Amino acid sequence: MKLSYELLDRIAAEHGSTFYLLDSSRFRQNFEALSAAFRSYYPSTRVAYSYKTNYVPRFCQIIDQLGGFAEVVSSMELTLARRIGVPDEKIFFNGPYKELAYVKSLLEGGGTVNVDSWAELCAIRRMTDGIHGAPFKLGLRCNFDVQDGVLSRLGFDVHGAAFMEAISLIDANPSLALAGLQCHFATRSLACWENRTKGMIGVIDRLFRNRVASFEFVSLGGGMYGRMPPEMMAQFPVPIPEFDDYAVAAAKPFAEFLGGLGKNPSPVLMVEPGTALVADAMRFVCAVHSIKDVRGQSIVTLSGSSYNINPTPNRKNVPITVFSATEGEHLVERANFAGYTCIEGDYLYKGYTGRLSVGDYVVFDDVGSYSVVMKPPFILPNVAILEPDPDGVSYRLIKRRETYEDVFQSYAFA
Ligand SMILES: Cc1ncc(COP(=O)(O)O)c(C=O)c1O
Repeated sequence: MKLSYELLDRIAAEHGSTFYLLDSSRFRQNFEALSAAFRSYYPSTRVAYSYKTNYVPRFCQIIDQLGGFAEVVSSMELTLARRIGVPDEKIFFNGPYKELAYVKSLLEGGGTVNVDSWAELCAIRRMTDGIHGAPFKLGLRCNFDVQDGVLSRLGFDVHGAAFMEAISLIDANPSLALAGLQCHFATRSLACWENRTKGMIGVIDRLFRNRVASFEFVSLGGGMYGRMPPEMMAQFPVPIPEFDDYAVAAAKPFAEFLGGLGKNPSPVLMVEPGTALVADAMRFVCAVHSIKDVRGQSIVTLSGSSYNINPTPNRKNVPITVFSATEGEHLVERANFAGYTCIEGDYLYKGYTGRLSVGDYVVFDDVGSYSVVMKPPFILPNVAILEPDPDGVSYRLIKRRETYEDVFQSYAFA
């Protein structure tokens, strides 16, 4: 993406001095690279994009155009997928809480619902009894120990009675069909991908050896690192896997296992990446509002906040670039970049040394994951999203800046 002070300043004049920049070609490249890595080991791999990670409609549309699926966890995301024009058959409804009216309409439209609990399954059975259009496609969300130190709360314990009863209930009910299995673990390590694959293979081997060929899909969920620059990788205590490493950990053993069973046709292997596709497909731009010194610590206050880019307690420093109109009056040393809120911990970057002036723009890379979608209307509403054209001169509006009215309009004023 070609950026210049002039371009940023022009955008700021029109849309405010804080904004996101979207990079759809990077997003496309990530989709293609991840798909190719998995397909080289298991050709019928499909990518279902995790809407929650960043549901900017432009991203979701690109996924649909590229032949990807929509992975949604709420009726809000389901509504968005449909509004974009994604056909129901390409929508997979996950998540621990689902509104039944939407579950029903997705099932009737030919979509797939991955069931998270026994109570949810019973409600679906009651609701679908005697409805036309059956059998409806269900998946079961699988929960097992992936040795990551986390007791996951998602899905059925695959060693518990409820899981076995769920399989029996679906099998006994002509309105329902077990179309596949799903799991999701948040840990991004390669070990977690090896263990989740082993775990799913174990479930299939134990319970579904004879019918796995009739499954439409087996999904291994999301939770992969995206591609990142070396300076970011260096901040992680472990090596960051590449897409091919994940494919070797997951698609390869899955292909070997199914090959060993001699199953043909085989189910689609699905992955549900969010972060891996979108993290480096967005940047965040703020203007420098003030530069001051407090007991020897240089503090730069910006027009943006860590709440715009996900305020996790141990924030990594994402790569930044400073764009100045001048040569920069100040030389700041080990400066901390603070946000516009009054929260003491609102820092976007720590330890910057270099030239910097009030009015400069700071561009933060790698902020596409859980940023825009998690910004609360705290102190200020959210900012605009623009996509610069490859020429680095023009740009298009992706989302207008939110107004104060947007925030106030849902309240009742006496
Ligand atoms: C079911 C499911 N799939 C996929 C994802 C995407 O995860 P990530 O953005 O880490 O790839 C999540 C995230 O919580 C999820 O819950």
